[in-house]
Amino acid sequence: MVSEKWASAFLLLQLCCAGCGLCGKALVWPSDMSHWLNIKNILDELADRGHEVTVMSPSYTILIDHRKPSALNFEVFHVPFDRKNTEDKSDELLNLILNVLPSLPFWQSAIKLNDFFIGLTGNFKLLCESVVYNKTLMKKLLEANYDIMIIDPVTPCGELVAELLAVPFVITLRVSVGGNMERCCGKLPAPPSYVPVPMVGLTDRMTFLERVKNTMLLVFFNFWMQDYDFHFWKQFYSEALGRPTTICEILGKAEIWLIRTYWDFEFPRPYLPNFEFVGGLHCKPAKPLPEEMEEFVQSSGEDGVVVFSLGSLVQNLTEEKSDLIASALAQIPQKVLWRYKGKKPATLGANTRLYDWIPQNDLLGHPKTKAFITHGGMNGVYEAIYHGVPMVGIPMFGDQPDNIAHMKAKGAAVEISFNTMTHADLLRALRTVINDPSYKENAMRLSKIHHDQPVKPLDRAIFWIEYVMRHKGAKHLRPAIHDLTWVQYHSLDVIGFLMACVAISIFLVTKCCLFTCQKLGKTRIKTKRE
Ligand SMILES: *[C@@H]1O[C@H](CO)[C@@H](O)[C@H](O)[C@H]1NC(C)=O
Ligand SMILES: *[C@@H]1O[C@H](CO)[C@@H](O)[C@H](O)[C@H]1NC(C)=O
Repeated sequence: MVSEKWASAFLLLQLCCAGCGLCGKALVWPSDMSHWLNIKNILDELADRGHEVTVMSPSYTILIDHRKPSALNFEVFHVPFDRKNTEDKSDELLNLILNVLPSLPFWQSAIKLNDFFIGLTGNFKLLCESVVYNKTLMKKLLEANYDIMIIDPVTPCGELVAELLAVPFVITLRVSVGGNMERCCGKLPAPPSYVPVPMVGLTDRMTFLERVKNTMLLVFFNFWMQDYDFHFWKQFYSEALGRPTTICEILGKAEIWLIRTYWDFEFPRPYLPNFEFVGGLHCKPAKPLPEEMEEFVQSSGEDGVVVFSLGSLVQNLTEEKSDLIASALAQIPQKVLWRYKGKKPATLGANTRLYDWIPQNDLLGHPKTKAFITHGGMNGVYEAIYHGVPMVGIPMFGDQPDNIAHMKAKGAAVEISFNTMTHADLLRALRTVINDPSYKENAMRLSKIHHDQPVKPLDRAIFWIEYVMRHKGAKHLRPAIHDLTWVQYHSLDVIGFLMACVAISIFLVTKCCLFTCQKLGKTRIKTKRE
């Protein structure tokens, strides 16, 4: 009996490890909230395949649950700010998004949001200090001999830890502010004529004025990145490493960039061999719904249901807003499942039910689901793509406007503004995506593109992580652009040289001509006189 158990355990172990050939040790530098939910899919899969996965987690987190038993190990480090501070920051962000920014013009709200994130940098620095300047902890990490680090650069410092430990690292990222990290540090080419700067809602087909805007934004964001690096991280990173460096230089050492989009979402654009697009890696076929929910969904009959969630950050709205939304929802024939934790709106219709939490993926994969009202978070948008559900987007901040702009450009979503929407706007948008068949067709087309891949996104992400472990890096995929200066990359020196050559030639030719003309002229005069 006992030996049988051991034998099966042994077999299981063998099976796991046979899968990867080499079982490695991975150290993870995550970000909290939806970023954690996404990266966790990769980590669980790595652990399933027999790798040893250790997650660096600050003592205070929101969704990273290091107390819950799991296949992952956690290296919890103390940070000198507390839960209250973390919660205050998240409340401050919510207040900014819901109450402050709506009344400001675009540039001012961008500056306000920027100030907020720069304020966050103070916390990030404290967090970083409590790791890199803790000798005991760093020694422990060094002695553990990790094969790879997996980093979400939205929380800075992971790359610095990797550099200090001399461990190759892989980045996972949806997009950075203005696409700066990918473009400036990863050197991903982004010609402004057809690659829109992320987060401003432009598409790949731009009018002349939009191209002017795109180019100006590109220049602006390049300066912003330099300034951010210079003011906040340059000195910190240089002191920690004991040599002059920048955050961008360290980030640029990433072996592989796992970008959380794919060609179902992204506009076609140039990319580099060390960039892999693994969008939708968290998507799964739908599981059956809880009984009560299934009954409610079935009760919708032919009309079907609408799924509505504004994500995990927005828990309640002002009474005015929630009443407006509820009264619009009450007017559609569909049943609505609304994830909402706030006070029950007075105008809530009989067709709408509120839930603290919904199994979003299972609902989106339900055959009765007609539309998804979303804030445009990447995880939700990808679940809608996966299951082919058209969307009504109500984006608020970060990558959300961009995500919805992509879906709109591909004909799978209608966008409405959270701040200015009226009851009629929401109703019209809902009726459009439900009744105009083109939205469903386009959503299904994206779904087909998503499913028609030789290797599933999660398997590709795992492949590249294991690849880096097997090859101890992926330097052979690293383009030489990392060693060029800005002037060399744009061939400005070559253009300058060639232009100088042309100028000299023209100068010489004209000089010669003038000289010979003069000579000829003189001889002609001479011959005439003779
Ligand atoms: C440094 O790290 C060790 C090991 O994780 C921990 O026990 C210790 O409390 C840390 N020191 C400080 C000052 O945070
Ligand atoms: C959210 O709900 C709490 C209590 O239910 C309330 O005090 C708070 O004002 C609400 N927030 C907004 C933005 O309405």
